[in-house]
Amino acid sequence: MASLPTSELFDGQARVWNHAFNFIKTVNLKCAVELGIPDVINKHKKPMNLTELLNALSISQDKSLALYRLMRILTHSKFFIEVKIHEEDNINDEKGYWLTPASRLLLKDEPLSMAPFILSMLQPDMINPWRNLGNWFRSGHPTQFSMDHGMTFWEYLGKEPMSTESFNEGIASDSRLVASVILKDCKQVFEGLKSLVDVAGGTGTLAKAIASAYPEMKCIVFDLPNVVDGLEGDQNLAYVGGSMFEAIPPADAVLLKWALQYWSDEECVKILEKCREAIPSKDKGGKVIIIGIVVGNENTDEKGLETQLFFDVLVMIRSTGRERTEEDWAKIFSGAGFSSYKITPALGLRSVIEVFP
Ligand SMILES: C[S@@+](CC[C@H](N)C(=O)[O-])C[C@H]1O[C@@H](n2cnc3c(N)ncnc32)[C@H](O)[C@@H]1O
Repeated sequence: MASLPTSELFDGQARVWNHAFNFIKTVNLKCAVELGIPDVINKHKKPMNLTELLNALSISQDKSLALYRLMRILTHSKFFIEVKIHEEDNINDEKGYWLTPASRLLLKDEPLSMAPFILSMLQPDMINPWRNLGNWFRSGHPTQFSMDHGMTFWEYLGKEPMSTESFNEGIASDSRLVASVILKDCKQVFEGLKSLVDVAGGTGTLAKAIASAYPEMKCIVFDLPNVVDGLEGDQNLAYVGGSMFEAIPPADAVLLKWALQYWSDEECVKILEKCREAIPSKDKGGKVIIIGIVVGNENTDEKGLETQLFFDVLVMIRSTGRERTEEDWAKIFSGAGFSSYKITPALGLRSVIEVFP
């Protein structure tokens, strides 16, 4: 080490420090959402200085300097920008905090808000398992989550109504965002379908949006009984409880959004075989529509790839699954007897994959 040029030594040190303290980004983000900082700035309708922000937030008035430091790092991370408060005034240059596209997605009243997703993913019972990753590598447990909780992620959610509610709300908020884009930019995916079953469809946010955009299409939300029991459908939407490993209700298309990454390749092949049994042949319009990550897809930059890899480790902690490259996906499709597939990278870090029997 002593022979390393000084610049490399300090580059290495900076990288190690940056990684060691990256969790500070996570807790700052959670804190901003919990305090409702984006909401308060948005309600103010113009950039806010520190004193105005301090007064508007329900926090202790002695936290002015702490709030300044929190806002400084959140501004550095591009959740806020500092802009002139009085745009037209040439003399008064005072600046205030304003929203960016990222913090707009954290507004609690914004229809496409990601706030429920952030809060559900950063709950203590979701974060705690991360503390013993090294122990898990040494153990024989299939997942870190089962090592800590003595049951699978889905069994845990089935037993903890508060966590289930928060998880379902978090995922539903993501589905609202996906629905808003897919129904606008990917209409061709749903053209000609008379029926669709959203497998592992959660509480049905995405299926509901599809059902209302296509009133002639019969839609089913299929998920575990503890998720869908008691939920009410309407004229073209029904809820069915069951396991996708046993049987899937028949339909022209099966939709799987954010579902297969929680399962191993062998389990995915079994699920996809059940999907194939549920749909008609390719020439009769049968297909499976997957919404998920294709690791390293063509639109992914360095940061995007890192985020995809974060998701991969996230599912590793919770389940036997993984995020997949195109090659990985192709293997499980052919393993389940499908003949071809088409990837449309239309959803940012995620893609729409149509898989044909
Ligand atoms: C990450 S959530 C995705 C929910 C929904 N597709 C969405 O993105 O909004 C995964 C879903 O898989 C469901 N699930 C887990 N095991 C299942 C099984 N054996 N059969 C059907 N659904 C299952 C869970 O209950 C959960 O709702």
